[in-house]
Amino acid sequence: MTILTPVAPPALLLATAARIDHELASMLDAHQSSVPNRLWQAMRYSLLAGGKRIRPTLLLSCFAACGGKDETVAMPAALALDCLHTYSLIHDDLPCMDDDAMRRGQPTCHCQFDEATAVLAADALHSLAFGLLMEGSVSDATKVALCQGLELAAGCRGMVGGQMLDMEAEGKKVDDLLQVERIHLHKTGALLRFACEAGARLAGAGEAQLHGCQRYGEALGLLFQIVDDILDATASSEVLGKSAGKDAMQHKATYVSLLGLEQARERAQEMCDLAREACAVLGQSAVDAPLYQLADYILHRSH
Ligand code: IPE
Ligand code: IPE
Ligand code: MG
Ligand code: MG
Ligand code: MG
Repeated sequence: MTILTPVAPPALLLATAARIDHELASMLDAHQSSVPNRLWQAMRYSLLAGGKRIRPTLLLSCFAACGGKDETVAMPAALALDCLHTYSLIHDDLPCMDDDAMRRGQPTCHCQFDEATAVLAADALHSLAFGLLMEGSVSDATKVALCQGLELAAGCRGMVGGQMLDMEAEGKKVDDLLQVERIHLHKTGALLRFACEAGARLAGAGEAQLHGCQRYGEALGLLFQIVDDILDATASSEVLGKSAGKDAMQHKATYVSLLGLEQARERAQEMCDLAREACAVLGQSAVDAPLYQLADYILHRSH
């Protein structure tokens, strides 16, 4: 039997999350005077509510693993990822989607403000993400590659496409693992994969390193959503900071609904093993190597 024992976030994640929080706050402060106040308040409310900042941490850790030295080069893209991710959460919580009242330990954006403000705050964070990718001291060619990569990961061929598949599968009897895998790889996996790939590109990685980061990110992406499904079924709303037990209630197609908890845990372990194999290509297979630790944390996380 596979038992997932919850572990605390590694020091690396906590330290990076603190830096990301600080940078996001400064970035928003710089925009305050030119943004309608209610819109700015809603953007700030959701963005600074204390997400785990896993995507920016993956980007910065892959950047470092591929030889990147100066973090300021990669920071704008790291911030872009959590702007994009936060936009996706605000939309995911809307009454017309998952209809959730709690996110990151506080009322969801549309509950705290109103639906129109929440939609607009999310729209603004989406645009801001692409603006951030155009910042920083990297070549124009790298900026174009990052914008193309994010469009692919976040848009109709990535996250948004996955959200559509998730909505379409709701309430249907899905008994095909490939179909659930397709939903998860798109709605969640694509952005995590992009985070890893972007870190490699920003570090000027060669083909082997880039490929290693892509493989690592792809395995982590699926792992992340399988664990999200498991936590939805097993953890409390207090620990998660979002409503637990929603997937079963809304008849979502998940690894747990299809395979049951035990096999979902085995599948998560397999994905973690795949991510660890990719770590070897990147010289990160020691148990205390950052990418190895992050894979381990994503498997064992408690929220
Ligand atoms: C939640 O993502 C949504 C999914 C893709 C499963 P996170 O678990 O990374 O949420 P935050 O950013 O920490 O709030
Ligand atoms: C959402 O998946 C993935 C996104 C693109 C936001 P879920 O609907 O399972 O995420 P949570 O559980 O609400 O965070
Ligand atoms: Mg959803
Ligand atoms: Mg949801
Ligand atoms: Mg979920």
